[in-house]
Amino acid sequence: MRPEVPHAGLNAVGSMHLLKDGRRMLVRPVSERDLPGILEHFRPTPPGRLSEGAARAYGELKAWLHVTTPGAYMLAGWVDDNLAGVVYFRDGPVSLPRRVMSFTTFKWLARKLFTWPARDVGQLLMWGFRRSLHRLAGLFRLSGRSATTIDSTAPYIHAHAGLITDVFTVPVLRGLGVAKALLAAAEAVLRERGATRVALYVASDNEPAFRLYEARGYGVVAVCGAPGAHHFLMVKELPSIGTATNT
Ligand SMILES: CC(C)(COP(=O)(O)OP(=O)(O)OC[C@H]1O[C@@H](n2cnc3c(N)ncnc32)[C@H](O)[C@@H]1OP(=O)(O)O)[C@@H](O)C(=O)NCCC(=O)NCCS
Repeated sequence: MRPEVPHAGLNAVGSMHLLKDGRRMLVRPVSERDLPGILEHFRPTPPGRLSEGAARAYGELKAWLHVTTPGAYMLAGWVDDNLAGVVYFRDGPVSLPRRVMSFTTFKWLARKLFTWPARDVGQLLMWGFRRSLHRLAGLFRLSGRSATTIDSTAPYIHAHAGLITDVFTVPVLRGLGVAKALLAAAEAVLRERGATRVALYVASDNEPAFRLYEARGYGVVAVCGAPGAHHFLMVKELPSIGTATNT
């Protein structure tokens, strides 16, 4: 059965994946109703340092934006109705706040702003402001080139490139092919949306994630960040629709 789940810009349906232990995993878009349960298991963490409360607010906000903003997506895998893992991604380089949020998100955000402690909201706003300044400084440095990101990796993240921003598998189901199946499903959505390439960043010391991406056909194209805390930018070219794949 292929249940239909409402999702901003994604009328995608569920797909079944066989895990290594023989169990079946349903992958489908995350709905607003699923979010509170998912956030108990996994919350995206901000790049850089934030207090615990502000980091929590960041994780909630990022999840809500992925579910309600056109061009941003979140798929979850379910085994026996229990969460197995999630993947966050978007279909282009434009940052989420610059995309149009849905009215529901505005309402949600307004409600949240009154319930998050003021110091966390303040810290989150300052963090966003500093990041924007940093980005702006980078854009000036790169003026003359049609770059949308501040680093030298911009050529890899162009209009036809999807960006995977988070992948997570619940600890008890690791090593069974959950993340591999979630990535395959995300790539299929991106391919349908016209992406010809998928990019992602991975911390250089995250061996399981690096091996996962390698196994899915991603290759390192650049190293970014300061020595000792650097990230790899990995890229995979997507075959055009109509070409057979082994996903
Ligand atoms: C990275 C992570 C998502 C992998 O999820 P998973 O469901 O266990 O991965 P899969 O079972 O689909 O593994 C797919 C491939 O990844 C590689 N891999 C996964 N875990 C690995 C590990 N611990 N060591 C080495 N390789 C590993 C293997 O190549 C594996 O293929 P194989 O089993 O056929 O050899 C999971 O460990 C996780 O949630 N980590 C915490 C969050 C995180 O770091 N996310 C990535 C952020 S960039």
